[in-house]
Amino acid sequence: MAKKKTRTPIVAGNWKMNGLMSSKSELKTLAKHLKKQSKSACDVVICPPATLLKAFQSDVKGTRIKLGAQDCHQNQSGAHTGDVSAQMLADAGAKWIIVGHSERRTDHKETDALVCAKAGAAIAAGCGVIICVGETEAQRDKKMTLRTVGRQLKNSMPETANAGDVVIAYEPVWAIGTGRTPTNEEIAEVHGFIRSKLFARFGDEGKSVRILYGGSVKPANAREILAIENVDGGLVGGASLKAKDFWGIIKAYGAK
Ligand code: PGA
Repeated sequence: MAKKKTRTPIVAGNWKMNGLMSSKSELKTLAKHLKKQSKSACDVVICPPATLLKAFQSDVKGTRIKLGAQDCHQNQSGAHTGDVSAQMLADAGAKWIIVGHSERRTDHKETDALVCAKAGAAIAAGCGVIICVGETEAQRDKKMTLRTVGRQLKNSMPETANAGDVVIAYEPVWAIGTGRTPTNEEIAEVHGFIRSKLFARFGDEGKSVRILYGGSVKPANAREILAIENVDGGLVGGASLKAKDFWGIIKAYGAK
């Protein structure tokens, strides 16, 4: 995969609302598998529930695994019962924060403006931010995919963002957790479109921003999807929960 040279790919696992202290064993197994791959093959991120960040810190020490969070509040602190700020997540070990996941946009009615504020908070806390975008099935059927993704990308990207702070995850809503994926051509079209928007926003540095594909990535389709032009890694839900499956995806970037 020679094209990957300009950008180190990332494979990020989004555990969603799954995982307990006993999940430490998966992390240990994953760390063991990762020794079978060169460090430079790809970056590896695990985003467990916030409750596990601190506990996982010692397990990832000395490994290639970086920790990430799945969401953050847009403010640094204050009277927001039940919420967790980006600064707190960074303090607990998060190097990355996912914002704008479609489950947040749906379950919590998060708007682009809110996602943008959260992304700004993540960057201010010193974290990299993974901004999720993606169309619903109805939007794809109405041929509104690029318009939807373009709007989300523009309105969810904070003014303060530099190219080095952000990763974009393209996740078609209808592909998340369903076992369905777009065709390779459809993925290439959207990723190419996102790349053009990144050039428009960041100039030449737009080429350094990683664009992940997410939605039903699994060991059986990883190699094919991750080889598509402008696909610089994956955001993986279900198949990131078991170290064996997650490694099955990561090793698409080669193993010793
Ligand atoms: P999935 O989820 O891999 O289970 O489809 C992806 C995501 O929601 O990030």
